[in-house]
Amino acid sequence: MLKKNKKWETILKIESTTNRTCFECNHLFSGQNNMLHQLAESLGSAIDAKDPYTSLHSEEVAEISFTIAMGFSQKDADIIHVAGHLHDIGKIGVPDNILQKRGPLSDEECSHIKKHPEMGASILKPVDCLIESGVTEMVLYHHERYDGGGYPEGLKGHKIPMGARIISLADALSAILQDRPYRLKQNFDEAVKEIERCSGTQFDPIVVKAFIKIKEVVRSYFYQINDFRVNSD
Ligand SMILES: [Fe+2]
Ligand SMILES: [Fe+2]
Repeated sequence: MLKKNKKWETILKIESTTNRTCFECNHLFSGQNNMLHQLAESLGSAIDAKDPYTSLHSEEVAEISFTIAMGFSQKDADIIHVAGHLHDIGKIGVPDNILQKRGPLSDEECSHIKKHPEMGASILKPVDCLIESGVTEMVLYHHERYDGGGYPEGLKGHKIPMGARIISLADALSAILQDRPYRLKQNFDEAVKEIERCSGTQFDPIVVKAFIKIKEVVRSYFYQINDFRVNSD
């Protein structure tokens, strides 16, 4: 697990991240070795296994989100970590032939893919502590954009839960660093530039600022997993 770095704490502390978690649920999220985290991690791996292009994506989103969220309390960071693992769980309801398609998607196929946040929230609905902690909302809104141009509801700015704004940036970073059928992966420095370019449109400027402060910690995570994408050539 990544070590806590205090540099960016003050940036994020100005805003609360998650819903107030009920007392009974608090212990479910503490630390990385609890059953809820392990279950979330294995469900995230199951989604990633559906598509070789997205291998390790849920794990990366969980780790990057957790690193950015460490400016909040440990409990909030743990909740966002779990939401990171589960963010694409709704893709289980997207037909494999669409998910694994290598060519451009038709409008109908795109609309199938765009249902995955709602499908994910509905899959998680029976789990009370995921609703009470805000995880389900983070999954539902992880494709909203700060400027209101996202989906499923076109929420804008601070109407999007903070956890979902963090996962949105982590999601984009992981995606930029991976090959996709329609484009080649970029390296870490190029990805950082792209994220800065989209500050205030796709991403919350506060979250971008927090990410820039801790980007070397995130880079070191990719070094830890021996990933060559951190190289700038
Ligand atoms: Fe994890
Ligand atoms: Fe997604």
